[in-house]
Amino acid sequence: MKKDDSSEDRKKDHIDLAFQSAIHIDSLDSRFIYEPLLSGHTKSASLKCNLASQSMEHPIWVSSMTGGTDKAATININLAKACQEFGLGMGLGSCRPLLESDTRLDDFAVRKYIGEQPLYANIGIAQIEELYQLGKIQLLTELVKKLEANGLIIHVNPLQEWMQPEGDRYASAPIDLIKKILDDLDLPLIVKEVGQGMGKESLRALLELPLVAVDFAANGGTNFSKLELLRASEEKKMSFAKVANLGHGAEEMLCWVNEIKEEQKVLCDTIIVSGGIKDFLDGYYFIKKSNFNTVYGQASGFLKHAMGSYEDLHSYVQSQVEGLHMAAAFLKIKA
Ligand SMILES: Cc1cc2nc3c(=O)[nH]c(=O)nc-3n(C[C@H](O)[C@H](O)[C@H](O)COP(=O)(O)O)c2cc1C
Repeated sequence: MKKDDSSEDRKKDHIDLAFQSAIHIDSLDSRFIYEPLLSGHTKSASLKCNLASQSMEHPIWVSSMTGGTDKAATININLAKACQEFGLGMGLGSCRPLLESDTRLDDFAVRKYIGEQPLYANIGIAQIEELYQLGKIQLLTELVKKLEANGLIIHVNPLQEWMQPEGDRYASAPIDLIKKILDDLDLPLIVKEVGQGMGKESLRALLELPLVAVDFAANGGTNFSKLELLRASEEKKMSFAKVANLGHGAEEMLCWVNEIKEEQKVLCDTIIVSGGIKDFLDGYYFIKKSNFNTVYGQASGFLKHAMGSYEDLHSYVQSQVEGLHMAAAFLKIKA
């Protein structure tokens, strides 16, 4: 038998803490079926996944955040190191500053920290329209090459642009620009919102294209309409406050993409479920519920731990990864 030196202390803790540990039946997580008899404490190989031709040890995506400001390099380097250590993938924040000059290149240049893991550059749809107008769309290929990225994420954010005091306006429908880029450039593409989600017909239009992935960036977490309004005039804040409540959550969007897959042929087979994902339980639930190759993404969840020492981020990611393995061993989702 293994020696149990801590037994006396543990037994005392159990008596002292028993009353605090009572759970109310209403707080049970009704998304899952718990099956304690069917697995040991094993690490599940089934959590390995692919993004395009690249493999990931765990189906976790670091959603696009930052670059172009002083805190960004530390944050991005920490995130990239965690991706390498735990086998995750990462989207960079908007690389718009790099279209103007290389002054902020160090904020984004994390290939040496992330190793072979998926790394995607990021640009807004407004900049794509502008690059087409200037006849400079090839700059995107150069950007991806300069960052040694595996492809490009396009963020489509009309409401954020509308709320942002210095926001851009674009004239073309984003779907037309995305189709044009697919024709004109040989770049693996991911398309995302920024925290408002999108409706079924936008999802359908994207899934019909040969994209690497559609990233939900659903409503329910960080919301950039709300964030931009916090930066706007008092009058604008009052007039547009309810805009943050528009859009779609991850649950609704996942039902839609599953329906679309039943209704028609899709060319994009990967979904990044993101926007308001709080932890591994949310992530696991959506991965299991999806009929696509699926990873889940978090932005603010990682940001909280990425601004200081790598150790803080390391222990956060480790706990999320362990939680995922626990879920894979003992949880099934309710049909
Ligand atoms: C600080 C911060 C900066 C962000 N910057 C970008 C960006 O440059 N490009 C982009 O596509 N999304 C950006 N996002 C949006 C995230 O990628 C993500 O879609 C959104 O925050 C919802 O995820 P969350 O609820 O896990 O935070 C940013 C998010 C945060 C928190």
